[in-house]
Amino acid sequence: MKKRISRRTAFLRIAGLGAVASAEKSFGFLGLFGGKKKGLEPDTQGRVILSLNDEKYRQLKNNGTSVKIDVKGKGKPLIVIRRDEHTVLTLSSKCTHLGCEVASPQNGTLICPCHKSKFTTDGTVIKGPAKRNLEKFRTEADNDTITIFL
Ligand code: FES
Repeated sequence: MKKRISRRTAFLRIAGLGAVASAEKSFGFLGLFGGKKKGLEPDTQGRVILSLNDEKYRQLKNNGTSVKIDVKGKGKPLIVIRRDEHTVLTLSSKCTHLGCEVASPQNGTLICPCHKSKFTTDGTVIKGPAKRNLEKFRTEADNDTITIFL
């Protein structure tokens, strides 16, 4: 025999799932939704190569731009930053305080939304509570590609 539930109970159950889904999206700690995180697959030498002719990365030809990319095996996206004609950097977006996802650069700084730690575009922490710099990955660029060494 089926058990009837009230509208209020049904609403609370749905709201509860929404809260879990929201927490999962923010912190990624449950691994409940979507199974393994999708993203770019590093090659056998541990590199990710982005084509600057690809629409998704084309803007990285321009100084002062950035793109977040998902890479398999990395919990949080990486932030690829074109600082100038000769310099492209790749930083982990995982805050070194408690692991929230740092926002893309705005006016030369990256800010963590959780407790407002601030970092320069080379990953150096300039305002706590984070005490360590963002993880940085060696990155090389030419006219057509950006290569990130993981
Ligand atoms: S997790 Fe980033 S400042 Fe706390």
